[in-house]
Amino acid sequence: MIHIKKKRKKFLNSNTDSSLQTDLDTANLPSHVAIIMDGNGRWAKRRLLNRIQGHEKGAEAVRTIVECCREMGISILTLYAFSTENWQRPKIEVAALMTLLAKFLESEQKNMLDNNIRLNAIGQIERLPEHVRRVLHETMTLTKNNNGMLLNLALSYGGRAEIVRMVRDVAIKAKEGGIDPDSITYDVVSDHLYTKGMPDPDLLIRTSGEMRISNFLLCQIAYTEIFVTDTLWPDFNREEFLRILQHYQHRERRFGRTG
Ligand code: IPE
Ligand code: IPE
Ligand code: MG
Repeated sequence: MIHIKKKRKKFLNSNTDSSLQTDLDTANLPSHVAIIMDGNGRWAKRRLLNRIQGHEKGAEAVRTIVECCREMGISILTLYAFSTENWQRPKIEVAALMTLLAKFLESEQKNMLDNNIRLNAIGQIERLPEHVRRVLHETMTLTKNNNGMLLNLALSYGGRAEIVRMVRDVAIKAKEGGIDPDSITYDVVSDHLYTKGMPDPDLLIRTSGEMRISNFLLCQIAYTEIFVTDTLWPDFNREEFLRILQHYQHRERRFGRTG
């Protein structure tokens, strides 16, 4: 796990966007990038704003990074937007996050259609308020034939809840005779996760410096390259994203084998 320290930024910021981009090997970009977008609250607190204003600013960073991934030709971008544990936050914050999510989806529909982006959601969608589910389904339906980038939003998502759901589904099938317990392999497990059919993330980024996974994609990140940056999510930008892609290209992925 690399913890990109603030002090490196000065040097790296002297690179322009375009020089960073040309330094990248387009044949060695991650196919699937996952991001734990953390730090909206701290961003707001530092500016004496309320947490909701931090989330609003965070939504702007989402737009920037979605656009950047699409331009780079990244196939899947999975964004951790709301965890199963986040329901325990104050009601007013949860409600504001839901409203912001619905607004974000509404405002991005045209952009997704123009840019061939398909929207998908992973998590306990049934727990989301009706107004969010409505616009979510509408956006997924509108973009279902797009075959450019897949934007995968983790909403009311928890890795443990996903495992429980998978075990239940497999157990029911085994009980009903549809699955022979002796033939259960990881492929069977993987086919019962929310991410069925998707390759595992190659790269996981967490903003705001916390060195933890916070219940994100527990099964899928077994061999994912992890980067943690101190930057708070609302300040995360294109330049830093490209810089992380450069770091990624210098990693040797061994998957348990020798180098
Ligand atoms: C991430 O920012 C957004 C969500 C978890 C919904 P936080 O709201 O967790 O911000 P911090 O961690 O309190 O700074
Ligand atoms: C992880 O951030 C969840 C999302 C980014 C949606 P949290 O802020 O909820 O995680 P902890 O509480 O710091 O582990
Ligand atoms: Mg947080």
